[in-house]
Amino acid sequence: MGREWLRALVDRDDVEVVGLVDLDGSAARAALDHHGLTAVPVGATIGSLVDGARPDCVVDVTAPAAHYPVTMSALSLGLPVLGEKPLAATLAEALELVAAAEVHGRLFMVSQSRRYEPYAASFRALAAGVGPVGILTAAMYRGPRFGGFRDEMDHPLLLDMSVHAFDAARWFLDADPVGVYCEEFNPDWSWYRGAAAASAVFEMTGGARFLYNGSWCSDGHETSWNGEWRASGAAGSVLWDGDGPPAGDPYAVPPDREPGEPGIRGALAEFLAALRTGATPTGECHDNLMTLAMVHAAVESARERRHVRVADVLQAAHGEACRRATGPVLDRLRSWTRLPPPVS
Ligand SMILES: NC(=O)c1ccc[n+]([C@@H]2O[C@H](COP(=O)([O-])OP(=O)(O)OC[C@H]3O[C@@H](n4cnc5c(N)ncnc54)[C@H](O)[C@@H]3O)[C@@H](O)[C@H]2O)c1
Repeated sequence: MGREWLRALVDRDDVEVVGLVDLDGSAARAALDHHGLTAVPVGATIGSLVDGARPDCVVDVTAPAAHYPVTMSALSLGLPVLGEKPLAATLAEALELVAAAEVHGRLFMVSQSRRYEPYAASFRALAAGVGPVGILTAAMYRGPRFGGFRDEMDHPLLLDMSVHAFDAARWFLDADPVGVYCEEFNPDWSWYRGAAAASAVFEMTGGARFLYNGSWCSDGHETSWNGEWRASGAAGSVLWDGDGPPAGDPYAVPPDREPGEPGIRGALAEFLAALRTGATPTGECHDNLMTLAMVHAAVESARERRHVRVADVLQAAHGEACRRATGPVLDRLRSWTRLPPPVS
């Protein structure tokens, strides 16, 4: 994914790549050389490059377990961060990063690339036209052979993939999660160590239900990576196959805007605009906490086989973050009067 981001960065006239950090220096060097960036330095940490390279911001495309140390280091150096999803590997780490963004007064935005997919905004607008939406469903069935961290991690589908659909559901419904029942499982033939399939029912603010079915070990008749969607509202239904234009009900209102730049390029454009204007972007870390909270509430529900309230999961993670954090980050965590804290 780092190569995808490098291509998106190099293709912009208003961005200069001044350094590339990776534990694997030879991979970083090869990626830079591929774009003719032979003079751009490589390092194993941001700290080792920052004095010479003098970056204005950092794009964190490391594996999820490294999001916390890498983004914390960038924020501590006073650098705004555009990070790949998920916000962090755990909700406690995520809360610490949000507190650090406040302490250092720097933007930390999570790239939820699915919000920028062509036609996602059309589906959202059409769904609003048949609203209020009471039932939103998403189904994603694919059989990718990744190798690497996903084959070995716990909860690969929920942690690394469902986060896209959960975030999209919040955006499509303009609502936040209240509680969830989730079942997670690993079919016999799965090539993953952790559970590669899950079904979840979320209650959202306003009363809508979001029903999710997903599998990462389903060969044949694959859905879009974005999943297949149905929004059912008081005035009709809207279908979206995740790739093409959504099919609206005759009562639905047509979308009022054309799709912008797709995927991570859309997230990058919004991040850069936010740095220039001070606007709060989609995926700003305070807001994105609720997307990650959906993921961890689903994991807890599946593990404990019971209904889980999202507020309880956030509260427990806040307690853990307070036990881990020190100094100004701890003070900031303790100062919050509600979870998630509002954007400051
Ligand atoms: N938006 C999307 O559609 C999408 C698709 C794929 C991956 N992703 C996300 O992108 C991120 C990377 O995924 P990937 O598949 O490219 O993973 P990967 O394992 O292929 O690559 C991760 C890279 O991070 C480097 N790294 C790990 N720890 C580091 C550290 N502490 N400091 C510096 N570098 C470190 C590794 O050496 C490796 O080069 C993940 O967060 C993943 O969820 C998003």
